[in-house]
Amino acid sequence: MNYIGSKLSLLEFLEESINKVIDKDCETFCDLFAGTGVVGRHFKKKGYKIIANDIQYYSYVLNRHYIGNHKELKFTKLIKEIPELKNIKISDKKTFVCNYLSEIKGEKGFIYNNYCIGGTKNKKETRQYFSNENGMKCDAIRKKIEKWKIKNLISSDEYYFLITSLLESTDKYANTASVYGAFLKKLKKTAQNNLILKPAQLIINDHNHEVFNEDVNKVSEKVSGDILYLDPPYNHRQYATNYHLLETIAKYDNPKIHGKTGLRDYQKEKSLYCSKVQVKEEFKNLILKAKARYIFLSYNNEGLMSLDDIKEVMSLKGKYGYFKKEYGRFKADKTDNRKHKATKTVEYLHYVVC
Ligand SMILES: C[S@@+](CC[C@H](N)C(=O)[O-])C[C@H]1O[C@@H](n2cnc3c(N)ncnc32)[C@H](O)[C@@H]1O
Repeated sequence: MNYIGSKLSLLEFLEESINKVIDKDCETFCDLFAGTGVVGRHFKKKGYKIIANDIQYYSYVLNRHYIGNHKELKFTKLIKEIPELKNIKISDKKTFVCNYLSEIKGEKGFIYNNYCIGGTKNKKETRQYFSNENGMKCDAIRKKIEKWKIKNLISSDEYYFLITSLLESTDKYANTASVYGAFLKKLKKTAQNNLILKPAQLIINDHNHEVFNEDVNKVSEKVSGDILYLDPPYNHRQYATNYHLLETIAKYDNPKIHGKTGLRDYQKEKSLYCSKVQVKEEFKNLILKAKARYIFLSYNNEGLMSLDDIKEVMSLKGKYGYFKKEYGRFKADKTDNRKHKATKTVEYLHYVVC
């Protein structure tokens, strides 16, 4: 997923830098602004026990699967509904169930009725976040997954795997320039293709991981670990508004929506880390409360907090230092022509040995 602030292309830099600071006996890695979960996933593969958290529910779902799921999914109870599953090799069952869901008939539901041309053309606001077919397909799949859960035909591990697969797949067909803060007037090429549900990757490993869906300043009171990695928003852009559709597909809770983009209420997910006035105090509280041997913070040179702010706060906890790297700016896509002063930013990894 093309996510604002994703660390996918910085994983090597993060791992190399972290390894230069930590002792070899570290076992637990906490990723408390987890987003897509890509950092936690990387360290899960390296054998760590991961504790992940994010304030957004769609991110909880992604992490509940990518991090929380660590054993093969067998779909044993679903055989009642899909008898053919019985003869499928265990490692192929995930793909089989996704193919089955890809084939079901589209159905009008909340996504079609509010975010597709067909469902909105006679309403106050016309929206085109998905083609009509893909909107209906998304609704049908989402409803089916919920029905299976209510009828106890899937386990919660299987449920989060399926919703993760749906979030990742629908995102690929969205008619946006990347984030959901706006949709495109014309259906772009990728949005015209028929939605196919691709199985999300499953990372098998021995640990029991923990995944939370809370404000980081609350969750940090109850978790502890060797390494605490923090990757907060860098600027005023709220994730809740930029990814509101993923939140609605994940929750599927028929929210009240408003405006051109069909935004849901996000008071509970509004982040103080996006507020110039409040971020430093919030960050200071977090650092003071944190229970970890090492704390790392990703931030860039254009963020709301200055280098001096960060150094001042992190030094309260122990010996401070940083690594840095030049980095390409996040672009929605090639059509993103907002005027920026520079095409590159400097990405910092601050740390403190507590
Ligand atoms: C820079 S992104 C993290 C990106 C992630 N490392 C990745 O590679 O995908 C910041 C994340 O912090 C989350 N967030 C913002 N404020 C938060 C808060 N107060 N508590 C928990 N999570 C928060 C956002 O929802 C967003 O997913």
